[in-house]
Amino acid sequence: MKKILALILSLAMLTAMAVTLASCSEEEAVDVGIVLPTKEEPRWLQDEASFKEALDKAGFTSEVLFSQGKSDVELSNVEALLEKNIKVLVICAQDATAAGAAVNKAQAAGVKVVCYDRLITGTEAVDYYVTFNSFSVGVAQGQYLIDAYKDKTGVPLYIYSGAVTDNNAFIFFAGAWSVLNKAVADGQFVVQNCPAIADYSGKALDAEKDHETLANILGTITTNWDFATAKSLAEANLVAANAEAKGDVAILAPNDGTARAIADAFSADAAVTSYVITGQDAEMASLKYIQDGKQSMTVWKDTATLATSTCDLVNALLKDETPEAVATYNNQAKDVPSAEVAVTVVDKDKLAELIAAGTFDQAKIDAAK
Ligand code: BGC
Repeated sequence: MKKILALILSLAMLTAMAVTLASCSEEEAVDVGIVLPTKEEPRWLQDEASFKEALDKAGFTSEVLFSQGKSDVELSNVEALLEKNIKVLVICAQDATAAGAAVNKAQAAGVKVVCYDRLITGTEAVDYYVTFNSFSVGVAQGQYLIDAYKDKTGVPLYIYSGAVTDNNAFIFFAGAWSVLNKAVADGQFVVQNCPAIADYSGKALDAEKDHETLANILGTITTNWDFATAKSLAEANLVAANAEAKGDVAILAPNDGTARAIADAFSADAAVTSYVITGQDAEMASLKYIQDGKQSMTVWKDTATLATSTCDLVNALLKDETPEAVATYNNQAKDVPSAEVAVTVVDKDKLAELIAAGTFDQAKIDAAK
């Protein structure tokens, strides 16, 4: 009798354990794993919020992890998500080359890989790329400077780039240079802080074909997407510049965070009478800078649209359909089929319109640090 009771008890315990395990793994089941670069830049928090909303609406379970600027954290994030049996990995790489190791693992586990915003290079283990049209971001920045100094000549131009580990930095710069190169050749602008670009006056550079040349040029003007680096580089450029290189100047800044840092350095120099500076991301703090006349423009990349476009893609991939590709990007290993989302230029006037239309909220802009 005792033995029977013990048997019944242990069976009951086993069943309880099995139920707990099952509900645990149900809780842990995640359809889509998302890995983003860092929580330290507002841009990526916007993406996180947009993703949660879009994927929830579409009925997918998802988990977002941040790499905090480190490729080894990125790899362990991907491993943790693979443990949860994700079906699709959406990844915005910290470092275009280093992320290869992470996506190779995902592909080996049968998971579909979507590069989000930043292309991962040198590996075939990427199925798709969802991105804003980054070339047009650069064109918009370059063209803004050209239009702002219409009919002027000899305007001092300072140029800065994103991190050379980010493939986008090459595309943004190639886009900007595709229009600025002519303005430099025509004498509208004189580049002040980048001797490496001297041979390319009047010559466009291609982000894919001229990758090495661009890597050398960008290496001398990189902010590494870091505000402190951006500020000290701008300060060093100003220390090296003579009076003729100051006055009314144009500044190509690659994104909002670096634009604010560079703008602060230029405003602190009494010999700079005025400046026109670009940005991108429509971060609240930069919208405030634009309203205060401290930043001239930003390129707004609507993360809600990008997340929705990713969601549609995830849907297709999960149904084993071949999603439609509007473009391809070569990642040095294959031509990656891509979806591209358009961008919007926002200056002071456009911002006022967007606030009136309810797209941006003045209270949020006022609250920005
Ligand atoms: C993104 C930008 C962002 C930058 C720094 C780029 O890859 O496209 O929107 O400002 O990274 O995080």
